[in-house]
Order: sequence, then C-alpha cells, then structure tokens
Amino acid sequence: MRDITAIMSRDRAIPKHVAIIMDGNGRWAKQRNKERYEGHIAGVESVRAAVRAAVRNGVEWLTLYAFSTENWGRPTAEVDAIMELFCRTVMGEAKELASQGVRVKVMGERTRFSAEVLAMIDHIERSTAEGARLTLVLAFNYSARREIILAAQALAERVAKGDIRVDDIDEELFASELMSSGMPDPDFVIRTSGECRLSNFLLWQSSYAELYFPDVLWPDFGEEAFDKAMEVYAQRERRYGLVTEDC
Ligand code: IPE
Ligand code: IPE
Ligand code: MG
Repeated sequence: MRDITAIMSRDRAIPKHVAIIMDGNGRWAKQRNKERYEGHIAGVESVRAAVRAAVRNGVEWLTLYAFSTENWGRPTAEVDAIMELFCRTVMGEAKELASQGVRVKVMGERTRFSAEVLAMIDHIERSTAEGARLTLVLAFNYSARREIILAAQALAERVAKGDIRVDDIDEELFASELMSSGMPDPDFVIRTSGECRLSNFLLWQSSYAELYFPDVLWPDFGEEAFDKAMEVYAQRERRYGLVTEDC
C-alpha cells in the first residue's frame, strides 16, 4: 500500500513542475484602450518575472502555454504579431536565460511555422541546452488532443510493425510517446485572468495536478503573484484517490 503521509509531506512545499496558462493579455490591453498585441508585449515582462520567481523558489520545471493550435484562428494581424514577438523575445533573451541556468524547450507541432520562427526555436533550444537550474517549456502551437492522437498513431504503428504487443501499452509507454516525454507531470497548473478551463492544455499530464485560477490578468502577474501562488500550493492536500487518517 502507498504511504499517504510520505506522499503528502513530499508533495507539500515546492512544486517541482509549475504549468501556467498565460491568459488575459487582450483584456489587459482593452482596459487601457490599446491594441491586443500590446497586451502580448506587456505579457513578456510577466514571463521574465515568472522565470525569475521559479528559479528563486526552486521550481525545476516551468511550462508556459504561449500559443494554442486553436489560436491560429485569430485575426492574421494578431497571429503575425505574436509570431514576431516570439522571434524578438527569443533573440533578446537567449543569453540572459542561459546565464540564469535556464534550459528552454519548445513543445508543440513544428508545422505551420515560418522558416524564421523555426530558426528561432532551434536557436533558443541550442543556446540554452546546458541550463541545469530550470527547464522552461514553451507550449507553442500546442494542442493536448493532437498530442494524444499523435501518440496513439505512433503506438498503433509500432504494434503493426510487430515492435510491441497491444498489451504492452500501459501509462508509462503511452506517456513516452507524448511530446512531454521525459518531463515530470505538472504539480500545479495556474490559469490567470479568472477563466476556469484548461483550453486543450496538458490534458493527460494534469490528471492529478492542483489547479489554481487567480483573478489577475497575465500582464499583471508579477513575482509577488507567483510567490502567492506558491503559498496557495503549499496549503493544498494531494490525496491521489487515497485516504488520510484524520478523515
Ligand atoms: C493569452 O491572452 C495569450 C494568448 C492566447 C496568445 P489572450 O490573448 O487570450 O487574452 P484575452 O483572453 O483575450 O484577454
Ligand atoms: C489559451 O487561452 C491559450 C493560451 C493561453 C496560449 P485562450 O484565450 O486561447 O483560450 P480560450 O479561447 O479562452 O479558451
Ligand atoms: Mg484568452
């Protein structure tokens, strides 16, 4: 039997993996009579703050949902502005991230991107590959359902080739075919802006994550807000379907 006390004390304090759905840039801009892309620009400062706060708090993995597969359906001008901002930010931050010991990985399908965006993804991953303090995962052109379908296809192909048997497919093998292969599951999923939904983010990996929906727009989510979130996490009791002695 699993020792629930040991599991719970281990899971208190610092989450190993924090995943954030960075939401509310457009509303932040609208409140200030600005264009939506200006909200995305302001959101970059919150990305910097989250990275600093994650490193300071001893978080080992930080995943940021930056662009969903569904976001391609936004007006072209906004999509172009986000892609340009991604390239500019990657160019400007690569050195600083490397010096902070941050390793960057981009998670998502490498389709639909321009050659410039693909080159920037390559650049940021290569130039930060030695980072050992924090792994920053940028979910960019990411869809959890698509990720699960791709894993199912890969496994079906392996079965068809005779490489594995149907019975061999268990949680571990399935997870090894996901884009998150090698990453720990998120302990804490935060979505800013008060919206309470996952919007196709880490559906498999978040099955036992603690969820938190602060009523703060992403550009206003600074280091203090991140620290407050860490306090909220520390108060949570993770049970994994088991029972504690006092209830
Ligand atoms: C999140 O902010 C950023 C992306 C989805 C790229 P939004 O752009 O969704 O902001 P709101 O939800 O419209 O305020
Ligand atoms: C989710 O936010 C995607 C990202 C934060 C990148 P959206 O703003 O796109 O999600 P919905 O449309 O409110 O569900
Ligand atoms: Mg939104």
